[in-house]
Amino acid sequence: MIIVLSVGGSVISHGQHRFAEYARMLKSLSSDHTVFVVVGGGKIARDYIERARTFGADEAFCDAIGILVTRLNARLLIAALGDAAYPVPPETQEDAVVAALFGRIVVMGGTIPGHTTDAVAAILAEYARADLLINATATDGIYTKDPKKHPDAVKLDEISPEQLVGLIAAERMGAGANLPLDMLAAKIIERSGIPAAVIDGSDPSNVLDASSGKQIGTYVLVEPSSDPAHSKEAQ
Ligand code: UTP
Repeated sequence: MIIVLSVGGSVISHGQHRFAEYARMLKSLSSDHTVFVVVGGGKIARDYIERARTFGADEAFCDAIGILVTRLNARLLIAALGDAAYPVPPETQEDAVVAALFGRIVVMGGTIPGHTTDAVAAILAEYARADLLINATATDGIYTKDPKKHPDAVKLDEISPEQLVGLIAAERMGAGANLPLDMLAAKIIERSGIPAAVIDGSDPSNVLDASSGKQIGTYVLVEPSSDPAHSKEAQ
């Protein structure tokens, strides 16, 4: 399979050991699959952006700072992967697809201002004709609403891309669903029908489970096999 993994900056920057754990897992994953990784910026990106804002920097400038931090994190993961990785983070999805021709794991960060690395990964999944997009985040899946605010929130085993777009739109209207994907990423998933999995990235072995189709996190599928309202956790 061709797999694109989007890993949140806050997930992978959780101590030096997390980079090493991800590198070990990715080497194992790449023995059976073609693997692309898009790394986020996490707390360091947010801190730098906050500092730039205090100087009056505009949002696009702040995004450019964020992109640099995502590329720093990508380089750190490349260092942890050693010879298993393509040696530099490509700056565009097209370059990433070309880099993959060398047969190593390709690791990149952000591309242009205006979105997050989730969208970068979704667009890369289109370019690479990925079989699966995995989003390793700080939560364990997609809920009907923000589980921190709503005890009756239901974790969904499966959801359609249209339902995902609807949930994100509802969040924008203030309904309070705390969703681990941005709207652009959801729209790209919707238009391409790329199967996606949203999983808890704190344990890298969850990525292996998602790649082998185990029920973990939330799968975004064009034709979910179950009605999300009746997923296991809802009962
Ligand atoms: P992230 O993708 O890490 O954003 O990019 P995030 O939502 O804060 O995700 P976590 O915390 O890592 O999970 C960091 C910042 O870099 C800029 C944006 O400002 C983003 O908030 N960025 C990133 C871009 O402008 N374009 C990109 O392609 C990627």
